[in-house]
Formats: sequence, structure tokens, C-alpha cells
Amino acid sequence: MDAAPLTPAGDLRGRTVLVTGANAGIGYWCAEQLAARGARVLLGCRSSERAQTAASAIRSRVPDAELHVLALDLGSLDSITHAAAEVGERIEVVICNAGVKAADPAARTSDGFDLMVGTNFLGHFALVAQLEPLFTPDARVVAVGSIAHRFARLDPATLDAPWSGSSLRQYGRSKALLMAFAFELARRWSDSSRSAVVAHPGYAVDPLTPPRPGLAHVSGFLRALTAPTRVLVQGKDGGALPIVHAATSAEVVNGDYWGPGGLLEFRGAPRRVTASDEVRSPTTGAAVWAAAERLTGVRP
Ligand SMILES: NC(=O)c1ccc[n+]([C@@H]2O[C@H](COP(=O)([O-])OP(=O)(O)OC[C@H]3O[C@@H](n4cnc5c(N)ncnc54)[C@H](OP(=O)(O)O)[C@@H]3O)[C@@H](O)[C@H]2O)c1
Repeated sequence: MDAAPLTPAGDLRGRTVLVTGANAGIGYWCAEQLAARGARVLLGCRSSERAQTAASAIRSRVPDAELHVLALDLGSLDSITHAAAEVGERIEVVICNAGVKAADPAARTSDGFDLMVGTNFLGHFALVAQLEPLFTPDARVVAVGSIAHRFARLDPATLDAPWSGSSLRQYGRSKALLMAFAFELARRWSDSSRSAVVAHPGYAVDPLTPPRPGLAHVSGFLRALTAPTRVLVQGKDGGALPIVHAATSAEVVNGDYWGPGGLLEFRGAPRRVTASDEVRSPTTGAAVWAAAERLTGVRP
């Protein structure tokens, strides 16, 4: 069964939302849930084939879905610049969802950045900066964070330095950087009606996710084996709920951080949650922002 929608269909008609990494996982479910509520959804994906498969899957549930595929590779500054130029319409919400969760220290983006920091953070920094002229006065940026942001120290001075240790720690660092950027953006937008917020999906896995044609295939055996874990974790449809809530709810305000409300924040209905002092720090945020400008050459 799909995670329950929080609001009635049709309430987002006339609003445009860009979801990065919309062809799979949580990004797909954000796109489907937003389309079901009438939003026009731009699917920011690096593979047009996977994007079209996702669009067909959404239309199988929401026949009148308003969808547009935007070619976007967050691991390429050229692709990001082209994508931002191609949008050509006003945007109410950007959901910075695309993410790489594991890589080895040698893995690099096409610009030579560490793959996780480059994709999860620098790519989204460059995207948001270049989309800014298209943002409506009440636009909102939603950064998809993670509980794992607590596993890492940021150290903005060595943001793209070679790393050692666990891939999970580096992943946590990439998510902490994205979160620090969003909280810094919130401070810079504090005098405007725009908002920047962070939301995390808890712990969301494919075997607990309702099937959709062409998306992650999970055998019946694995579904049955995993079913008992539903008491603690959830499907990616459930993981999308705090993110869609952060993107659309009137109760969400600039600088908020949302996540699932259940045990360990792994699953459950959205509620405000607490981020580390480090990603909330104005000093860290300003340093992270300056480092991202220097590395990407993009100035918001
Ligand atoms: N699942 C969880 O429990 C969990 C927990 C905390 C945070 N998160 C965060 O939630 C987000 C989504 O996670 P998920 O579990 O849904 O992951 P997923 O199923 O692996 O999906 C990741 C998405 O990101 C896209 N992507 C990766 N690299 C990209 C690039 N260079 N350019 C454009 N798109 C790219 C993928 O596209 P391709 O199909 O082309 O690879 C895919 O659409 C991530 O940011 C992750 O860090 C997830």
C-alpha cells in the first residue's frame, strides 16, 4: 500500500516543482505525489530513458500529470548550466534530491570533484545559483538531508580534499555540506518571502516500496523477507512524505528542518527535527558557501 497522501489532490495546480533525481527512489515518489496534487513537475534526470520510464510510471497512476523531463547530470557543471538555461519558466520549488550514497575515494565527477561531494552538494549549489533568476517571489528550495550528516566533520577549507575512512562518513559529509548550504541560503533569504529548508527521509528502502512499472525490481521473496522490518523502516514512498511536506506545507518556514516523527526518525509522519550545531552554524555556512563558489566558479 502507498504511504497516505497528506493533502487533497489538486491543491498544487499552477505550481512548478523541479525534482532532481526524479527517475528513481525517493525522487520518483516526490514527483508522483506532487503530480497527484496537480503540480507541474520537472523531472531533473541524467538518463532520458530512465526519466521517460519514470514519467510513464507516474502517468499510469496520474493520467493527467503535467510532467517535463529536464536533462540534468549533477556531476557535470556543463550539464547543470545547460539545464538551468533550458528551464525557461518560473519555478516555485526545487527539491535537491539526487544523491550518490556510496563511492570509493577515487570516484570523481566529470569536473574532477569527489563524486559524493560533487554530486550531492556542489552540483546542487551550482544548480540553485543558476536557477535563481527563475524563482518566484515565494520560491522554496528543499535540500534532502540525512541523519548521516551527524557522522562527519565538515571542514570547509578542505571541502574537496582526498578522503580516507568509510564511504558512509564521506557520504555524511556530502549531506552535511548540502544542509549547511541550505541553512546559509535561509539566512541570506531571511528578508525575502523566499525560503530554504531541509528535510530528510528517514530510513527508506526499495523492498518496502510499492512496485511501479520499470522502476526498481524487487523479488516477491525479498519483499516477504523484508516485510517485518516495516515496524522500524519504510518504503521510499514514505521517505518522500517529509520532503513533499517541507516543499508544500504552509506550516513550514524558512530555515526549518523536517523528518519522520517515529523512533530514531527512521519512519513516520513528518515533524520538525533537530540538525547538528555544525550545519546550523553561520560561520560554517559562510565558509561552505565561499568554498563552493571557488570550486564551481558559480556565484549566486
Ligand atoms: N533512502 C534513504 O534511506 C535515505 C536516507 C537519507 C537520505 N537519503 C537521500 O535521499 C536522496 C534519494 O535517495 P534514494 O534512496 O531515493 O536513492 P536512489 O534510489 O539511489 O536514487 C538516487 C537518484 O539520484 C540520481 N542521481 C545520482 N547521481 C546523479 C547525477 N549525477 N545526476 C542526476 N541524478 C543523479 C539517480 O539517478 P540514476 O538512476 O541516473 O542513477 C536516482 O534518480 C539522496 O539524496 C539520499 O542521500 C536517502
